[in-house]
Amino acid sequence: MKRTKIKYALCSEAPMDEILIKGWVRTKRDNKGFSFIELNDGSCLMNIQIVIDHTPEIVDVLDAVGTGASVAIVGELVESPGKGQKWEVRGKSIELLGKADQETFPLQKKRHSDEFLRTIAHLRPRTNKYGAIFRIRSELAQAVHKFFAEKDFFYIHTPIITGSDCEGAGEMFRVTSLEQGAADGPENDFFGKPSHLTVSGQLSVEMFSLSLGDCYTFGPTFRAENSNTARHVAEFWMIEPEIIFADLADDMDLGEEMIKYLIAHIMDNCPQDLALFAKWVDTTLMATLENILNNPFERLPYTEAIKILKKTKRKFDYPVEWGMDLQTEHERFLCEDKFKKPVYVYDYPKTIKPFYMRMNDDDKTVAAMDCLVPRIGEIIGGSQREERMDVLLARMQEMNLDQEEYWWYLDSRKYGTAPHAGFGMGFERMVMLMTGVSNIRDVMPFPRTPKSLDF
Ligand code: 4AD
Ligand code: MG
Repeated sequence: MKRTKIKYALCSEAPMDEILIKGWVRTKRDNKGFSFIELNDGSCLMNIQIVIDHTPEIVDVLDAVGTGASVAIVGELVESPGKGQKWEVRGKSIELLGKADQETFPLQKKRHSDEFLRTIAHLRPRTNKYGAIFRIRSELAQAVHKFFAEKDFFYIHTPIITGSDCEGAGEMFRVTSLEQGAADGPENDFFGKPSHLTVSGQLSVEMFSLSLGDCYTFGPTFRAENSNTARHVAEFWMIEPEIIFADLADDMDLGEEMIKYLIAHIMDNCPQDLALFAKWVDTTLMATLENILNNPFERLPYTEAIKILKKTKRKFDYPVEWGMDLQTEHERFLCEDKFKKPVYVYDYPKTIKPFYMRMNDDDKTVAAMDCLVPRIGEIIGGSQREERMDVLLARMQEMNLDQEEYWWYLDSRKYGTAPHAGFGMGFERMVMLMTGVSNIRDVMPFPRTPKSLDF
């Protein structure tokens, strides 16, 4: 017999004479003559209730079945007389697939703190909250591909190992096959030159956008920034579209459309899981999401943003000056207090942005944009790209970048250059926005942060 996932059993149209359910025991209550088992198989938030009589064959097995054990149950799917569920299973047989040691099983019926659950990241997906997070995360990833497929974007698998630093921030992890402590230089290493884990697939995807048109990459990226915040991890996933024959306004349009599409998709497809977060994690979640869906994002030049931040009575830890990078406190003030919706800040000072961003006519700012959202701050960072060879070269010189390293990137400006723009969205930050979860460590299956590489 084929297993029925609990998700499908619970929305069955009719009773079933025989059904096979497999999953992990959430609770077991023994009564006189029968037991109740709440079973969850991860396919959805809800458990299915099993009622099973204490026949002689079953009693022995039942004794060994505790919270956390995995079991297979064959029974009958019948209408449930109990409250809160339409169907339950009248168990006829039970097989213990995997026992859970009751002395040490760390998940109790009570609510555990996120901090504690991080120490058992391998078991936390067995809880309601983390099951819901990772189902939503999965659905969100599928929706990203759906969004781009519907818009005829090509999905490009850009390399993870790279010889260049896209963001120029020097926050890269080295890749080597040399023994630790080896005296050999990079010329004797695997690639014969220094190599690193990528911080962004942008430069690669730009080449494809200048060939196939609209493209995107969606993959893991790595940053060795030593910032222990609730919004940074060393390994995260980034969604990077690159649009051809496009400018900064087109770029902002795409980002806004994508955020709204993803929110609407999850609201339509994951209502049960989403309701858990609205009830237990952030009671303002649905209002926040509706508000994002129903209003155009604010678009604010950086220089205006600085004026607003200087004028407000609000005290910031970091003093505000034209030329500075916005800190999270500034970003959150703009979207949470001032505009009360997502805000694009654009046209940033060139001194705080990477070499590839397009120079504006004022020669002081570049066509960059950051999308700021409530509770999180920056969720998207992007720009129109510098497509003019002479300007790009001057900029690289100004920033002391080795032109030879970027010969292939420069070729794209030499042979059929064209206006284009793109952005990077932090996928985990999107999951945070969607769920109201406030620490990025809790939306990653196994987070990687400074001094932490368990699991
Ligand atoms: O603003 P960033 O650094 O932009 C780029 O890397 C561009 N090359 C993207 C492009 O134009 N194709 O990063 C983009 C986004 C940020 O807005 C943030 O959401 C996320 O990536 N991000 C991080 N997420 C988690 N942990 C970190 N350490 C992150 N660093 C950036
Ligand atoms: Mg950024």
